[in-house]
Amino acid sequence: MQKLIIKNARVVLPQGIEKTNLLIQDGKIASIGEVSSGEKRIIDAQGLMVFPGAIDGHVHFREPGPTHKENFKTGSIAAVFGGVTTIFEMPNTWPTTTDFEALEDKRAIASKTSACNYGLFFGATPTNLGEAQKVANVAGLKIFMGCSTGDLLVYKDADLEKIFSEYEGRICTHAEWEPRLNERKKEFAGQDSFDIHSKIRDVQCATEAVRRAGKLAAKYGRHLHILHLSSRAELDVIAEIKETQAYKDSGAKITCEVCPHHLFFSTDDYEKYKGLVKMNPPVRSKDDVQAMWDGLLSGEIDMVATDHAPHTMEEKTQGYWEVPSGVPAVELMLPLLLTAVASGKCTYENVADWVCHHPSQIYGLKNRGTIEIGKAADLVLVDPNKTLDVRNENQKTKCAWTPWNGQTLVGCPVMTIVNGRIVVEDRTLVEEQAGREVTFS
Ligand code: DOR
Ligand code: ZN
Repeated sequence: MQKLIIKNARVVLPQGIEKTNLLIQDGKIASIGEVSSGEKRIIDAQGLMVFPGAIDGHVHFREPGPTHKENFKTGSIAAVFGGVTTIFEMPNTWPTTTDFEALEDKRAIASKTSACNYGLFFGATPTNLGEAQKVANVAGLKIFMGCSTGDLLVYKDADLEKIFSEYEGRICTHAEWEPRLNERKKEFAGQDSFDIHSKIRDVQCATEAVRRAGKLAAKYGRHLHILHLSSRAELDVIAEIKETQAYKDSGAKITCEVCPHHLFFSTDDYEKYKGLVKMNPPVRSKDDVQAMWDGLLSGEIDMVATDHAPHTMEEKTQGYWEVPSGVPAVELMLPLLLTAVASGKCTYENVADWVCHHPSQIYGLKNRGTIEIGKAADLVLVDPNKTLDVRNENQKTKCAWTPWNGQTLVGCPVMTIVNGRIVVEDRTLVEEQAGREVTFS
């Protein structure tokens, strides 16, 4: 196993940023501070920063299934180029990850091909609770409360009540309310401009689902993680539920995430980007975009995750009703956030909290997500001043496009280390398969 010394870097430690040295041995962080040299590779990281490898808690890698959009290999390579060392992958593949066999099949694929560490979600259906209770070590039980890509859907009161009353693990919801969005679809049936997307799947669709899931979590004392939250109103609903006696008494916990597209795009962008900014939940008003930044900074929103959802450019440039929802972002999450630091929106410590420390706490990754002695050496070396020209043609995702095409970001991952092994160096892939399945607690 490679031994490495990283010298003279500004290292993002749990207690703050310090100029120090790291010794990496046997895949772990062996010491911090004084490190003796020997016959190890020494990386002089003068001018660079070292973050814990980013954790993207929400990606769709499409395998098995529509692998012409992405597969585990291409998605995980995109991840490591973006400084992401761990991803959690969603169950709306084909077949859906809704039974033991499908989960094991996906595990086999990931174990053979993943460049980064991975965890898998299990998908809820109205009838597979028994199976969900049997499978081990999943990121969480994912409930689509409103339909999206694929056909996973659980929204009936009795089905949701049963899941929350009996499933003891982490429950992660796509919180859009199916009955309302269906009604709204009918109302807008004759129209085809892209901005109707945010009207069909309006804020009330989201708050209705957040309220229902939140109340059930409070009633049964569950850990509920709200995926891709997008509006101020949802934060208000969560705050209300956290004030209830049921929430306080039951030991429930509600956490939430926001995606880069809800931090950087708004309904004003439909005119220019059309189907390229169609995703579920949809982009919101500029006020809501600001509320997402405020929520992150206040701690009301716990983490950032991408909802990396690749579709081909051909699919994304059709008319409104045909365009599938979703945008890729796993390779840009960290550079986008570093750019936000450069423009004064947040700090490097914030970024480490949002994509490293908090995701590891929320998902119970005991040995990843922080730079501490004994933890797995999942690290990303970042040049905070180096620019990254984002172009469709230099994206690593198989779908080969990005809504950030043409932008220049400030802050670039220059080396990614997974389990102590260098996987990307100088924007070149040097190792393809360093990833392992993570352990959830
Ligand atoms: O926009 C989305 N795309 N939202 C989802 O919930 C699913 C995702 C996908 O898989 O394409
Ligand atoms: Zn998703």
